[in-house]
Amino acid sequence: MQFYARARNFYRDVPASEEGMMGDFSDLSNTDIESSREFLRKFIGGPGKAGTGFALDCGSGIGRVSKHVLLHMVNNIELVDMTEPFLEEAQNYLEDVAERVETLYCYCLQDFTPPARKYDVIWMQWVSGYLTDKDLLEFLLRCKNGLKDNGIIILKDNVGREGCRLDPMDSSVIRDIHILRSIIEKTGMSIIAEERQPGFPELCVPIWMFAIQ
Ligand SMILES: C[S@@+](CC[C@H](N)C(=O)[O-])C[C@H]1O[C@@H](n2cnc3c(N)ncnc32)[C@H](O)[C@@H]1O
Repeated sequence: MQFYARARNFYRDVPASEEGMMGDFSDLSNTDIESSREFLRKFIGGPGKAGTGFALDCGSGIGRVSKHVLLHMVNNIELVDMTEPFLEEAQNYLEDVAERVETLYCYCLQDFTPPARKYDVIWMQWVSGYLTDKDLLEFLLRCKNGLKDNGIIILKDNVGREGCRLDPMDSSVIRDIHILRSIIEKTGMSIIAEERQPGFPELCVPIWMFAIQ
């Protein structure tokens, strides 16, 4: 429980802004967004691919990914995040696209069940490390039930070089790629593509995108 309480406390002091969402790397937001768009484009909007009707942005914060990635390709979205002020700010931050947000869910992902068979795309960025292995696995299983036919989950996160490292600052873990793949595969879904985020400084922890179906 302390693991989750610490993350909650950490986010109480984080500003509801793009800088707050990106930590020390706000100048890399555009690089992140461009790669996310390119990656997602491969899996949606064609025969046998995911539809473009509805997306769920998990650990959405103020809706940075929703505004710059999801709403460029999907008609309607929903946001889920544990930090209420971020969701409040989302309504201003999203500006004219705010009307395409159906619901803002203020929940911790470990306690949240996405509505069944509702989403074409479920996006989880920079939030999987805030869940324990068990809660991440169970949340992915609930997301699986939330997908429409051909729907897809995109998980984007920091990926460590070896093992699992706790960051006591924000109470998150950075998993290595084997641990992450093994959690994903335990859900019975498959990783249909994975790609390392290009263009971030070598100094940064590598960031990977996984397309899961
Ligand atoms: C680094 S920010 C990333 C925000 C957004 N995904 C983005 O890329 O701009 C992490 C977000 O995860 C949320 N978060 C952390 N732990 C969470 C949990 N257990 N359940 C729901 N949201 C959580 C925080 O409130 C914060 O908005």
